[in-house]
Amino acid sequence: MRSFAIIVLGGVFLAQAALAETAPLPAGDPAAGKAKAGLCRTCHGLNGYARIPIAPHIGGENPAYIEHQLAAFRDGRRVHEVMTVVARGLDDQSIADLAAWFSGQSIQVALPAASPPEAAPQDCVACHGADGVALIPDAPNLAGENVIYIETQIKAFRTGKRQHEIMSPIAAELTDEAMRAAATWYANVALTVAPAL
Ligand code: HEC
Ligand code: HEC
Repeated sequence: MRSFAIIVLGGVFLAQAALAETAPLPAGDPAAGKAKAGLCRTCHGLNGYARIPIAPHIGGENPAYIEHQLAAFRDGRRVHEVMTVVARGLDDQSIADLAAWFSGQSIQVALPAASPPEAAPQDCVACHGADGVALIPDAPNLAGENVIYIETQIKAFRTGKRQHEIMSPIAAELTDEAMRAAATWYANVALTVAPAL
């Protein structure tokens, strides 16, 4: 009986959180997104393969993840000197279009020959995959992101600058050594976004 009550309560909280956080966005149009992606190109590439080290690859990410992050930058729940400014200029339709465009890119990943999937960081694989391709829709791909980007985000979860009900506690528990090992593992995955644009 008791566990039933907890499950029901949990369900109510989840439903409320979902309502509060994810007002449904309009359907995205990838062609319109491509036209708008010119704004992103200098840093993320037109196909989402990043061109500067501090910017993450966003090609082939789940559309829900891209939408969430752009909305978070726009609403101030995630802060970055560049992305906050970029996202403030985006309406809901633009966010949906950009997410449709970038998520529609096809990616290929390859582990280095000396890295069998079993050696992947076990605390991360359930959501981020052994090869850094996310296994759940609200988690990002980590394949080919550089060590500095990955560590910066984990530190942001630790300090509360970035907050997420799953990642914040995981980041808080992670030792510096485990953080470096996981970041290095995912940074070493070769990522291709094709066609190159
Ligand atoms: C001048 C460079 C620059 C431009 C232009 C830019 N970004 Fe970014 N973007 C960044 C950086 C740097 C980050 C990492 C922010 C951080 O460290 O939290 C980022 C992060 C993101 C993320 C989060 C990705 C993740 O894995 O969490 C998304 C999504 C994103 N940008 C989308 C866009 C889109 C869409 C555009 C165009 C409308 C755009 N960005 C334009 C530099 C840029
Ligand atoms: C139970 C699922 C789960 C596990 C396990 C997990 N993550 Fe995450 N991770 C997520 C989710 C969900 C997000 C997106 C958070 C958000 O929306 O801000 C995320 C985001 C991240 C980001 C930000 C990436 C970006 O593109 O900005 C990094 C880095 C990260 N995780 C690293 C790790 C590492 C390293 C581990 C293992 C020690 C790990 N995660 C374990 C679910 C998980």
